[in-house]
Amino acid sequence: MSAAGQPGGTVLVVGADGLVGSALFRAFSVHGPVLGTSRRAGSEFLPLDLAEPPGKWPSLPSVSVAYLCAAVTALRQCREHPVESRQVNLTHTVTLAGRLVAQGTRVVFFSTGLVFDGTQSFWPESAPLNPQCEYGRQKAEAERQILAVGESAAVVRLAKVVAPGMPLFRRWVEDLRAGKVIRPFADYVMSPITLSFVAEAMQALAAGWGSGVWHLGADADVSYAAAASRLAARLGVSPGLVQPTTSQAAGADLEFLPRHSTLGTARLRTELGLITPSAAAALDDCFASI
Ligand SMILES: NC(=O)c1ccc[n+]([C@@H]2O[C@H](COP(=O)([O-])OP(=O)(O)OC[C@H]3O[C@@H](n4cnc5c(N)ncnc54)[C@H](OP(=O)(O)O)[C@@H]3O)[C@@H](O)[C@H]2O)c1
Repeated sequence: MSAAGQPGGTVLVVGADGLVGSALFRAFSVHGPVLGTSRRAGSEFLPLDLAEPPGKWPSLPSVSVAYLCAAVTALRQCREHPVESRQVNLTHTVTLAGRLVAQGTRVVFFSTGLVFDGTQSFWPESAPLNPQCEYGRQKAEAERQILAVGESAAVVRLAKVVAPGMPLFRRWVEDLRAGKVIRPFADYVMSPITLSFVAEAMQALAAGWGSGVWHLGADADVSYAAAASRLAARLGVSPGLVQPTTSQAAGADLEFLPRHSTLGTARLRTELGLITPSAAAALDDCFASI
């Protein structure tokens, strides 16, 4: 370790414009050299579009650890465009991981709790996968292929990362402040974690490397309705403005409605000494900066 939270050497964040990627880029920049990639024209990061054939990719820098944050993350987009999204989320991501590992880089691949079927709480890291949506199937297969490279690969399954800038939270804030009723789902749950916790855990993983599967999730499921009520309280608006509904009553076109979204985080605790903040604390932390 060259400094707290940084392995010796440069870190690469693939998808440095995204929610998680930009937070990791910022967090690692404090401690040492970090490179990022972006598919956006005019970006200052290295250009890398995973929709392009690998033959067109630029050569990748030699780094110690790479965090693979680039992905098609919208479930609807994965369902409606399975071929294109599979290429980005599975085929090309696995190719990228292979190239990086061949250069002596450790890779961290971000996956999701949606590789499980949501029928149980706190799945352990070793639980069998049973994805119920296209996004989850793509991630599950990418996990399997990336883990096959062995000691140089880690898979980090994230529960729901919450941030003040999330479009849903922004809409809720706007409506609540305008005195408008919002109708969040009471039957849709999340296990919220903050970006700062994800960054802290990833710095700890870089410093105390462990291959295989890791889980980052909170201590409980929280419904979107409960989260909205917490936000209303934080904003000091009438609790009556939050009028919960269900996804079914609202006619939401959901590919999958997990009953549970929590992940078992035993490995994080025992091997990295990290305790995930509670779901309530994660929401309060997120809403504090709204
Ligand atoms: N956030 C969560 O709650 C959560 C939960 C579970 C798992 N994850 C996983 O964690 C990782 C990061 O998620 P996130 O929330 O940061 O997602 P995000 O905000 O949607 O960011 C995704 C990133 O991928 C980039 N990207 C999309 N298509 C690309 C392509 N063809 N080539 C190169 N880059 C491409 C995006 O670029 P543009 O911005 O230019 O589109 C963006 O930088 C993802 O693998 C996601 O599946 C996230």
